Amino acid sequence: MQKKSPPPEKFLCQTAPSALRNASPILRVLRDILPEKCSVLEIGSGTGQHSVIFSEGINCLKWIPSDVDASNFESINEWAQTATNNIPFSPRLIDASQPDWCLTANDNIDVIVSINVIHISPWSVTKGILKGAQKFLPKGGFLYFYGPFIQNNVLTAAGNIAFDKSLRERNEDWGLRNINEVEKLANKHALKLDRIVKMPSNNLSVVFTKT
Ligand SMILES: C[S@@+](CC[C@H](N)C(=O)[O-])C[C@H]1O[C@@H](n2cnc3c(N)ncnc32)[C@H](O)[C@@H]1O
Repeated sequence: MQKKSPPPEKFLCQTAPSALRNASPILRVLRDILPEKCSVLEIGSGTGQHSVIFSEGINCLKWIPSDVDASNFESINEWAQTATNNIPFSPRLIDASQPDWCLTANDNIDVIVSINVIHISPWSVTKGILKGAQKFLPKGGFLYFYGPFIQNNVLTAAGNIAFDKSLRERNEDWGLRNINEVEKLANKHALKLDRIVKMPSNNLSVVFTKT
């Protein structure tokens, strides 16, 4: 396939340093778990740079970026211009804490990914993603979370304890989620923990499958 031209000099693509750093390790995990030609919904796409890297890296059929903040769409659309795969790529306005995700039957998603979102948002967002996964994923579909977590019987890294504190100072409803609590709730939404993968900088990939 023909490579599209790079973004213009004054492009509007935003970059997040953390998204650059974690892209390769996350891509390795996604390649491991996801089937080729899957259709992916991303919750909380932010700048959109991950959307392009991952959609190309896993050779998916469709990647639907989304965010609750429409001011990210300019950047997401600009990143889409740099993609080489010509897949549909229009961002959707989705507030994951709300029940209406504006998805249609034609969207046919089989994977939901959410990277560095559930600790920088209220618990209602985690609940909403689990509910959405139950509603929209087919049996055997994947829900992928990436970020820092707390795990029962696992020592939390000092950096993550400090990060949790700083998040809660910024917003009392934010903070690192306990995987065991996420799993307990996920189980009530027909989601089974598939695997937990240790990632650099004390982050984790947490993967659920729809039963
Ligand atoms: C730290 S950024 C991560 C962005 C991107 N996933 C990345 O890794 O670079 C968190 C993102 O979650 C989005 N977000 C926060 N609350 C949300 C909600 N209720 N529904 C959907 N997205 C939300 C924010 O707008 C923001 O883009």
